[in-house]
Amino acid sequence: MFTAAVLTVSDSAFKKSREDLSGPTVKRILEENGFEVKDITVVPDETDFIVTALERFCADGVNLIATTGGTGFSPRDVTPEATVKVAERLVPGVAEAMRANSMRYTDKAMLSRAVCGIKKSTVILNLPGSPKACEENLNFVINPLKHGIEVLLGRVGECARK
Ligand code: MTE
Repeated sequence: MFTAAVLTVSDSAFKKSREDLSGPTVKRILEENGFEVKDITVVPDETDFIVTALERFCADGVNLIATTGGTGFSPRDVTPEATVKVAERLVPGVAEAMRANSMRYTDKAMLSRAVCGIKKSTVILNLPGSPKACEENLNFVINPLKHGIEVLLGRVGECARK
């Protein structure tokens, strides 16, 4: 069993002019994969809001924070920059794998600037904003990420096979 928090980054969902469908989608996928989702929060596309929420979830000690939204080219898209501010170590391979796999669905996958990082015993994963993109990306990386979290927590060795 793992714990998680979900952070939706969206001006319109924060203002409630658009329903947040992505956060609940991410929560469902995490629960299907053995995560207890402790918190689900919506913040606007503002670096300070994102950093504060990420720091709070890390202090709570959740194993995984999954963000959705704010990874593209829009001038207000700053989720990766906020994540880099919080993370102590980056995990480029996870973001590269998501982008590479997502090219099967759309060539616009290359426009996501999502990053993955680690702060202490918490992994932070950026996902794009649409529920469909969340599903396609998260399902692809969730199993290796669970292994990574177990290594991070010292439960298994680095090269242990399933
Ligand atoms: N990845 C997958 N698997 N499926 C998608 O539909 N959409 C792309 C990309 N990654 C997409 C995807 C699009 S259109 C954009 S603009 C970027 O994610 C960034 O999305 P964001 O700005 O909502 O974070």
